[in-house]
Amino acid sequence: MRETIPLNRGWLFRRETDAPSAGERVDLPHANVVLPYNYLREADYQFVSFYEKTLAAPEQWAGRRVFLYFEGAMAYTEVFCNGRPAGSHKGGYTPFCAELTDLLIFGRENRLEVRLDSTERPDFPPCGNVVDYLTYGGLYREVTLLVTEPDFVRELRVSPRRTAEGEIVEVAAIFGAPLARDAELRVEISGHFARREAVLHAKAGDDRLRAVFSGAEELRHWSPQSPSLYRARAELWREGVLTDRAETRFGMRLCEFRPDGFYLNGEKLKLIGLNRHQSYPYVGGAMPERVQRRDADILKGLGINLVRTSHYPQSRHFLDRCDELGLMVMEEIPGWQHIGDEAWQEAAVGHVEEMIRRDYNHPCIILWGVRINESADCSAFYRRTNRRAHELDGTRQTGGVRCSVKGELLEDVYTFNEFIHNGGETVFRSREEITGREEPVPLLITESNGHMFPTKRFDHENRLVEHALRHLRVMDEALGREDLAGEISWCAFDYNTHGCFGSGDKICYHGVSDMFRIPKYAGLACMSQRPPEQGAVLEPLSLISRGERDGGGILPVWVATNCEFVRVYRNGELVGDFAPHRAPFPHLPHPPVLISHLMPQNIRLPLPPALREEFTRFIDERAEQGVLPDLLPEDYPYLEDLSLRAGLERGALTALLFETAGGWGQAENTLRLEGYVGGKAVLVREVGEAKSFARLDVQADDTVLRADGSTYDATRLVVRALDTLGNLCPFYNAGVSLETDGTVEAIGPGSVALVGGCIAFWVRTRGKTGTARVRVRSGDETAEILLEVREGAAAAPAAAAGGGTEPAACFAL
Ligand code: GAL
Repeated sequence: MRETIPLNRGWLFRRETDAPSAGERVDLPHANVVLPYNYLREADYQFVSFYEKTLAAPEQWAGRRVFLYFEGAMAYTEVFCNGRPAGSHKGGYTPFCAELTDLLIFGRENRLEVRLDSTERPDFPPCGNVVDYLTYGGLYREVTLLVTEPDFVRELRVSPRRTAEGEIVEVAAIFGAPLARDAELRVEISGHFARREAVLHAKAGDDRLRAVFSGAEELRHWSPQSPSLYRARAELWREGVLTDRAETRFGMRLCEFRPDGFYLNGEKLKLIGLNRHQSYPYVGGAMPERVQRRDADILKGLGINLVRTSHYPQSRHFLDRCDELGLMVMEEIPGWQHIGDEAWQEAAVGHVEEMIRRDYNHPCIILWGVRINESADCSAFYRRTNRRAHELDGTRQTGGVRCSVKGELLEDVYTFNEFIHNGGETVFRSREEITGREEPVPLLITESNGHMFPTKRFDHENRLVEHALRHLRVMDEALGREDLAGEISWCAFDYNTHGCFGSGDKICYHGVSDMFRIPKYAGLACMSQRPPEQGAVLEPLSLISRGERDGGGILPVWVATNCEFVRVYRNGELVGDFAPHRAPFPHLPHPPVLISHLMPQNIRLPLPPALREEFTRFIDERAEQGVLPDLLPEDYPYLEDLSLRAGLERGALTALLFETAGGWGQAENTLRLEGYVGGKAVLVREVGEAKSFARLDVQADDTVLRADGSTYDATRLVVRALDTLGNLCPFYNAGVSLETDGTVEAIGPGSVALVGGCIAFWVRTRGKTGTARVRVRSGDETAEILLEVREGAAAAPAAAAGGGTEPAACFAL
């Protein structure tokens, strides 16, 4: 039987420039350097390093095959066993295997050495020209040792299909090499009380076998609402003895892009998504399972149903969690605009293969991206990538992201980055304009916004609001357009980048959330599109602070909410109920609410009904234009006239409007917002104009961590400065430090300054169990949280259907 041995702990790491005797004990995932959050130097992670480990190879391994499986090593890897080369690999985003079988000495300790070149090598993707992201160095994903019998199952490919006879599941077992001897292959699929088995006879020389299970209608479909997962298993038996077993999780999911949209299990579904870079502050991609999985939860919470893994394959843990959450994924090969020479292209075709072979069984993946993001047409190259993808996977279509219109379409889906929206009327061009074709082809918008409107979480309120509205506009447009399968906005999280992109501090502030995954207003606006059952949202897109606004005043206020209406009180008096403002967002499930006035109901009532309606229309119009409480010059005579017509004093309405809208020179306001769903107030928010710092708050994504996983465990602690009403103080930028008792430690610096009133630390386990008392201190203020580190704790959020993907078997070098 095979043995799968995680090899993540206790590598000896050193830089090439260090003395060979030097070395630091590290665990994987490992970043070759801890970088600053911003203003970093890209040269700092671009160096050659060595990772060394001793491996005791027991006598029983003689006659078996032994592989070292790397999930991600940036960027060019050479593997040595006892000083002899075991293979090399180009590219930091796809997995590979080094075979040690003939290099090990059994019954002894063996020396494994990895030479890792983490420079921006121009000879394979994504480098060769500038790239708008960083290729952080290190053995930044896990390593596994796999020991098999000579005959073994290298890969299982599970294909759900619809045929003329109905739905089927095909399970292909691909052997490590043509079988040396006859065997029996037992294939089983199981889950949700279903269990089907097939026994096949494998003959010497077979390199793969396929079992077909018909009548798969009895399996539940995988979908965003109901992400049902099953397991497939293949066992090789010889003379009644089990010699190998491979297992995978899969979903009964049928997907197809057609000219009139995207179909999931035969039903049309609009795709609304965000792009994700896998980078985290300080350590780039080097985050363990729990943190990778958490990103999928965070994205699902942002109300989307699709993620694009821009611009490279991402951690299997992230994809596993997408499977469990029903979050669909477009995965693409590494690259950014530039296409290199023959050898470079050869490596890219290799990446297509490695990506598809690794991720074939993830039901979340609905489309392969087989072009270099935003590269020019390159027929011969892209014929190859498409051919390779189709040869490997007959169940999924291909896309290939471009930013120029009327490109050559070698893929099944025209996938296009559409940056036409600049706040004006046009959101996306027509399909004909984009594709240059009269005949309809499937079209998916793969980026929008981004560099068209970079926005920091601590930017001025007006900009944060416009950023949110732009994201809502592209969603609304996609939902309303019959000629689009959907859209994926740029992007989920801010990310580190080179100086020729971003804001000069090596950050592209393009996320709807920041690098710490803390949402900006745009993130809150995305969240508000989720169904209330997935979490009610009630977020004023305003500080309610008149001096922050251009011209003063606190109106109008957009409220991102999935509630049916918002009841508003000002200084304890009822103002009224405000419904979602559908006119500018006819297609959104939950248009934001626009609070256009703050006049208490009992004061507004003296107006006769016809004039009240006229007055309300006037206020709504001005609110939509964003000019309240600063009225336009022509508004004053109009309002005076209206006052007189209503039998009020001249100027009465202007004064009322001005006073209640929080005009310059008027008294303080506190607003209370109640979000109603099904006749009940499900959320209440109070926001005061006067904000005094009250306390530090710390919240952990997880409070129980695992001590005995395949490597260290980690979670995020979000620290916020709150005012007396429990709202964020966005300009409170004090220093905060993390104090722990040694059971956990910070990944990256333990002392930082709040950025826009909040920040996050990620803390990791250190191989000890116990309860960690974690304190965050800022001057005399402290906030405390208890984290328990114990054995056997689940990789929360708990894995479904028997856990995620096994590290894949083998990819011969
Ligand atoms: C696109 C590119 C992305 C990112 C984005 C910023 O052109 O594909 O990687 O740079 O622009 O808006």
